[in-house]
Amino acid sequence: YSMGTYRLAVIPGDGIGPEVIPESILTLTSLAEMHGGFQFDLQHFDWGTDYYLREGVLMPTDGLATLAQGGFDGILLGPVGDPRVPDHVTLWGLLLPLRQTFDQYINLRPVRLLPGVRSPLAEKHPKDIDIVCIRENTEGEYAGAGGRIHQGTENEVAIQSTIFTRKGTERIMRYAFEYARQSGRKKVTSATKSNSMQYNMVFWDDVFRQVAAEYPDITHEQQLIDSLGARFVSSPESLDVVVASNLFGDILTDLGAAISGSMGLAPSANLNPERRFPSLFQAIHGSAPDIAGKGIANPIASLWSGQLLLDFLGEHEAATLLMGAIEEVLARGQARTPDLGGTTTTHQLGDAIREQMRSMA
Ligand code: NAI
Ligand code: MG
Repeated sequence: YSMGTYRLAVIPGDGIGPEVIPESILTLTSLAEMHGGFQFDLQHFDWGTDYYLREGVLMPTDGLATLAQGGFDGILLGPVGDPRVPDHVTLWGLLLPLRQTFDQYINLRPVRLLPGVRSPLAEKHPKDIDIVCIRENTEGEYAGAGGRIHQGTENEVAIQSTIFTRKGTERIMRYAFEYARQSGRKKVTSATKSNSMQYNMVFWDDVFRQVAAEYPDITHEQQLIDSLGARFVSSPESLDVVVASNLFGDILTDLGAAISGSMGLAPSANLNPERRFPSLFQAIHGSAPDIAGKGIANPIASLWSGQLLLDFLGEHEAATLLMGAIEEVLARGQARTPDLGGTTTTHQLGDAIREQMRSMA
């Protein structure tokens, strides 16, 4: 491949995935054409629930090896999950193994109220909601260690162990402080629960304090997860960078999406910062079975995830153009999907954003 060709694995997934992912592809492809300095080489994979119902697995047994050895610069993934299959089967069949195997230990989730979008929080404006959540993504509560014994009997026992390693905890903390420093942010807030969890969360706090000491230019504070959840609602303007464990970050960022106006607006980047493995870009929402097949899902979460991919690839100019177009279209308010109170379809909103990019380029 020539210089400037990025190889992307595309996995549309389930539900609204096959509706929003094509909008990301169309948008990234037009950006590449407009820019002229890079192009995409796409490879599609039909993994997910339909594949599972046919083959008995969410992805082929050599699926991870295919992605690892395929020379991919990134993975675009849609949501995975379907009412026909238990959610733990779909999640552990594809997404969680990807994050763990490819050591995507950073789950970066911007929480921003975009111009023209109404937050359910009265009196909150775009300047009030601008948080970046750095969620640990390979261990903690979602380490996958545990088991069930004596199933279905009165002696049944279920154990799900939470695993925090020094290496895993230090690197997430360090990334949060580095991110704050490099992006000109001023404060890192750690989500904890060290009152009731006296081992792993006290350890989490210890590591937070140790790493914070290396960054005297960045303010640090910690807060118990329950009251931090309340603070997302009562004073989001007091938050800047938030670092959280796998479970806490998962919950906080759906809350973040809600205060930002819609699940359909929230993006994520699952990063392996060392680039030993491909990183993965994905909207934080699920497969939305309640609206799947109607062509009305908001594609912006998926497009914005593509913008995070462009940034990770170093294509900052294209990334800035895409974000500017998303903001401008939302600010004008003419193209809105039903989650934003309008009647625009998924594809029409995608088209409006691409048209806006062309006029801004
Ligand atoms: P969900 O995010 O799919 O839906 C929650 C609500 O948000 C629904 O009312 C839905 O219509 C709305 N919504 C979500 N995305 C939207 C969009 N782009 N535009 C407009 N509205 C949108 O969460 P839910 O219902 O808890 O999960 C559904 C399925 O997705 C489950 O099987 C779950 O396991 C799976 N899931 C998968 C994830 C992934 O693969 N990353 C993440 C979260 C859930
Ligand atoms: Mg989630």
